[in-house]
Amino acid sequence: TLISSLPSDTDVKGKKLCNYQGCWYYYNNLQAVFDYQKHFKPLDSDIIVSSYPKSGTTWLKALTVALLHRSKDSLQSHPLTSDSPHGLVPFLELKLYVRSSTPDLTKLSSSPRLFSTHMPLHTLREPLKDSPCKIVYVCRNVKDVLVSLWHFRSKMEKQEAERSSLESIIESFRNGVHTFGPLWDNVLSYWEGSLKDPKHVLFMRYEELKEEPYAQVMRLAEFLGCPFSQEEIRSGSVEKILNLCSLSSLSNLEINKTGISWNNLDHNIYFRKGEVDDWKNHLNTEMVNKIDMIIDEKFQGSGLKNM
Ligand code: A3P
Repeated sequence: TLISSLPSDTDVKGKKLCNYQGCWYYYNNLQAVFDYQKHFKPLDSDIIVSSYPKSGTTWLKALTVALLHRSKDSLQSHPLTSDSPHGLVPFLELKLYVRSSTPDLTKLSSSPRLFSTHMPLHTLREPLKDSPCKIVYVCRNVKDVLVSLWHFRSKMEKQEAERSSLESIIESFRNGVHTFGPLWDNVLSYWEGSLKDPKHVLFMRYEELKEEPYAQVMRLAEFLGCPFSQEEIRSGSVEKILNLCSLSSLSNLEINKTGISWNNLDHNIYFRKGEVDDWKNHLNTEMVNKIDMIIDEKFQGSGLKNM
């Protein structure tokens, strides 16, 4: 098979990873990526939410769902109250194409269809060809991503967040051998894609969403082809969406408090602090220097800043 001819390595846990088109995957996800590339048929109206894990995926999924749902009949129950953002916007290579090499995409509940991914842009785009479908990427300060990942992993393993596991996360970040790594290549693929093709690739930042949520949601709506009307703006439609999608509101919905996701994780594991610069509470100077050095080097010349 093709998989056996690709470079392989192991992550810190000793789990086997395989490199395809410059990105590291666990085997089952890589098989799913192959199947996606082979079988996926885009529709012009498709929307794909992309990210490196722990960059604000859940938030962006919720905002996208809420934006698209806003004009619907208010008597109908809101999709965010009946399923988690990850249930509503399923991952291509972590869920849909893991379950089946040819999943039945006519069964998806949303219209337009919503998907998500952690693949780099060039891999995602292979079966999209010249499709006008929209891709929205969310990027976050790398140090906050690593700290968030550390807490997430600890919760997943039902363990205390140990310093040693933070160190090993930083080490695997540095050598790039971790699922969907190297992180900088993931970010750069979308950054460059958004510069070349701004009509189809939108590059958003977690920090900007926190700083000026109103303007950023307007920007997202515009990009997705569903801008707010004057009437909606007057009636507070933007604020309603922002409130519904705030961390406290989402994490207090029954479905997210008690629900369990497709991968057997509690929905509530996706909600923690949701703050900018939480890394300052956890990383020491040596860690900060290590991360900054590599990011400065990798982002150099790209025009991209690690906020
Ligand atoms: P922290 O661990 O820093 O709190 P992802 O959704 O990509 O897995 O990222 C998870 C991070 O996004 C976590 O960051 C989580 O708390 C934060 N997050 C989840 N929902 C959010 C929301 N509605 N608003 C802001 N941040 C949110």
